[in-house]
Amino acid sequence: MTSIYGPVTDWATDFDHADPGYNAHAPEIWADLRATCPVAHTDRYNGAWLPVTHEHVTQIAYDTEHFTSRSVIVSPFHPIAQAPVGNAPPISSDPPFHHDARRLLLPAFSPKVIDPWEKDVRALCQDLLAAMGDADLVDAAVQYAQHIPVNVIARMLGFPLSDADLFRGFVHDVLEGVNIELEQRFAAFGRLAEYLDVQIRDHIDNPRDDLTTFLLSATIYDQPLSPEHVRGSMVLLLVAGIDTTWSAIGSSLLHLATHAEDRQRLLDDPALIPVAIEEFLRAYAPVTMARLVKEDVEIGGCPMKVDDWVLLPFPAANVDPLAFEHADEVIIDRLENRHAAFGLGIHRCLGSNLARLELRVAVEEFLAHFGNFELADPNPDSVTWSVGQVRGPRTLPVRILR
Ligand code: HEM
Repeated sequence: MTSIYGPVTDWATDFDHADPGYNAHAPEIWADLRATCPVAHTDRYNGAWLPVTHEHVTQIAYDTEHFTSRSVIVSPFHPIAQAPVGNAPPISSDPPFHHDARRLLLPAFSPKVIDPWEKDVRALCQDLLAAMGDADLVDAAVQYAQHIPVNVIARMLGFPLSDADLFRGFVHDVLEGVNIELEQRFAAFGRLAEYLDVQIRDHIDNPRDDLTTFLLSATIYDQPLSPEHVRGSMVLLLVAGIDTTWSAIGSSLLHLATHAEDRQRLLDDPALIPVAIEEFLRAYAPVTMARLVKEDVEIGGCPMKVDDWVLLPFPAANVDPLAFEHADEVIIDRLENRHAAFGLGIHRCLGSNLARLELRVAVEEFLAHFGNFELADPNPDSVTWSVGQVRGPRTLPVRILR
């Protein structure tokens, strides 16, 4: 897919979060911006802002009066769907509808429902590791991280596991194919809608115990969910559940491949893994969301106008030295860690129990199976990064040290 924009000339005045250089160098870019211009701007995408301090990200995330979630993915095209429902409830919904659309989904992601998945997630990780045999070189993103969340969410939604490549394609279209021609982007959404229609028809004919049947039989204000609501929530769960967790697993393994001391500590003391996971989530948070300006407002001295895009880089907030001590260091036993990886405010991640479970089990099993490993090529450019609002390694070649 060809970008409709050229290379970035200046990150403060012409940024592009979908430029291939952004995710690879994001921490340096945020640090530069924090020191010079804490709210960057671009004319791309019909105008977008990028605040990089914890203070501004928090202020915007909590302000549902001046900012709408009608679309959380920046693209050159403003969404057709209207507030307060939006096209992927509840993430695209504003109050008061948001509260009710979120409440509907909460029980499906409670610890009581998620905890029992641990056995299946562990078996899945072990199968993936066994399939790598005794190879000396493996790709921890391609052969491991990317498969875990796809498999889990496909099972939860009741979709064929054999469609995993299709799901990764849909997620790529929604999240990475943002700076392309309108027809290409609409065609991609059309393919996703067609796929979901087939799954919905199948579930109407053969109802079963999964999230799709749950959405089809759920009610809101004593009425069945509208077909747009059902389809929108399915898109949300498919997209929110895949790239995010895949990225977090990949970044955690990248850290362990490049920090022998931390790796050894976790090998010696696996009970520390859950604490380390929180630090990986802070330091390598994968998810940046977006808002549209609903009413003119000034943030950090910048005049934000109705319909401007505003990126919400939770990953940048997480490494702001004003919010965290030694913010640029990864301290795997950091005790106080109120990170914003899962967002701030009313849209805080609904899948965090599931994400933490997948992340912990994926790291536990990888360490238990391989023990010591390092980057196959110490040049950091040997790792390739995703493009756009979800940040994580897409190729991660590692050498197993036996
Ligand atoms: C490490 C993995 C994950 C990260 C870092 C993450 C991060 C986030 C963030 C930052 C938000 C806030 C969105 C906003 O403010 O607009 C969010 C919302 C959400 N996430 Fe996650 N997420 C992860 C995994 C998952 C998973 C596995 C699921 C479920 C399958 C999920 C489902 C959702 C949903 C439904 C929302 C919308 C909540 C609302 O609008 O009230 N996420 N996530």
